[in-house]
Amino acid sequence: MKTMNSFHYLAQLDKRKKADALVIPFWKGKERGEAGISLPPSLTSPLKNILASGDFKGNEGEVCILYLDHEPEKRIVLLGLGDKKKMAAEALRRSYGSLVKNCLGRKLKSLNIVVPDVDESFLRGVVEGFLMANYRVDRYKHPDPEEGGRPSLINEVTWISPHKSMKAVAEKALVLSQAINLARDLTNGNADDITPQYLEACAKEIAKRNPKIKATLFDKKRIIKEKLGLLLAVNRGSSLDPAFIILEYKGNPKSKDKTVLVGKGITYDTGGLNIKVANMEVMKCDMGGAAVCLAVMQAVAQLNLKVNLKVVIPSTENCVDAKSFKPGDVYTSYSGKTVEMMNTDAEGRLILADGLAYAAKNLHPTRLIDIATLTGGIDIALGPEATGMMSSSDQLADAFQKAGDTTGERVWRMPLFEEYRERLKSDIADIKSWNGRSAAPCVAATFMKDFTQEIPWVHFDIASTAYTTEPKKYHPKYASGICVRLIVEFLEHLGDK
Ligand code: BES
Ligand code: ZN
Ligand code: ZN
Repeated sequence: MKTMNSFHYLAQLDKRKKADALVIPFWKGKERGEAGISLPPSLTSPLKNILASGDFKGNEGEVCILYLDHEPEKRIVLLGLGDKKKMAAEALRRSYGSLVKNCLGRKLKSLNIVVPDVDESFLRGVVEGFLMANYRVDRYKHPDPEEGGRPSLINEVTWISPHKSMKAVAEKALVLSQAINLARDLTNGNADDITPQYLEACAKEIAKRNPKIKATLFDKKRIIKEKLGLLLAVNRGSSLDPAFIILEYKGNPKSKDKTVLVGKGITYDTGGLNIKVANMEVMKCDMGGAAVCLAVMQAVAQLNLKVNLKVVIPSTENCVDAKSFKPGDVYTSYSGKTVEMMNTDAEGRLILADGLAYAAKNLHPTRLIDIATLTGGIDIALGPEATGMMSSSDQLADAFQKAGDTTGERVWRMPLFEEYRERLKSDIADIKSWNGRSAAPCVAATFMKDFTQEIPWVHFDIASTAYTTEPKKYHPKYASGICVRLIVEFLEHLGDK
């Protein structure tokens, strides 16, 4: 995967250079007409006929192509933006996502894009939708000569807009999309490539590129010494060592405020001795939470945000072996609490419990955020339409609800009823790991809450949103990198009241 590397900016159409296509946006219905800047007569007269014919309506994401002589581009692409009255950043993301899908299908590589005349808050939708759609998983596939070789991405864009903040908005979206694509690449990569050791190398690389980030990596010996007992339990079945990664970014050294992100880094989930009977082929995605944490760290540092952020990633495979941890056995966690293992496939909450307890005890968090492909049940409850959110703090949950609305990365709060804790009572240990399928996402979150030391905490279950086998809105199929923009948005507004 190669990311978009060259953006150019123009305030007007006349100085534009050659490109594969010129994109002109249109609103739908009565207000139909070009939504960007005014066009020269060489373009307006051919457009008049098309618009009069009614063949192009300006519906959201609709694309119509004209072939004109004497323009610097071979093609003129009309892009529908939908109803102007219903204008929203998310609708623009979808429209520009649809544009990219169409252009990739035609193997277009360079575009001159007229930007609609909208407020800055909507402007980001245009660039984000464009960039997030401009991604494909092409690492493992040989090019098909009949298809004209390797599918390649759009790699050159000139944004044509008189808007003063166009460049700043676009450059920020570029940083975010590079982080999202890092999360996607890590999640889409072969499980045999993206190992705990690979995540370590990736964390080290991110720290190397930014002097404000410090990386601390615990090897197996240190993990044993620290008594991260649940991470070690899950690691027993794997031929690879576990990893425990800590990244620290000081963007506001004067403040004591610290956000700690904990990400589930299961690089492959077979289920362990409770081996999976279905869907194991998607379980390379089980480090999706860890990937989001690394991506957020990269974006926050590149954007130079004035916040203090730490990332904790417990990582291992969950495999089957003679040494595998066994259902029914009791293990001691980092916190000291003992856990009765009810199902070895409920491994995510175990490594997160150690990660959360370690963070609570040693990293002085003002708030704890964990992000994990945690339960199949969240897909039954919400599907790919929303990320499940559980929180011990109304304030945190409200802030994320807001960030979800702004970014289009929808979250849906689910309960943490007291009764769920009752279900986790064990006769032989301090807590059990699992209690069956009923309310599984909520019970899993309730298990982890026991390890947060009453620090304000929010949990995101991304098992239904991090990886999909169908394309969704402006996300191509497979890893979405969802929650990167959500968490960055939250961090940017931390100081707001
Ligand atoms: N990694 C899975 C959850 C998951 C499901 C991630 C679908 C991505 C897509 C998790 O570790 C798991 O196995 N959960 C099981 C636990 C249960 C069988 C004990 C679940 O929720 O079904
Ligand atoms: Zn599992
Ligand atoms: Zn898992």
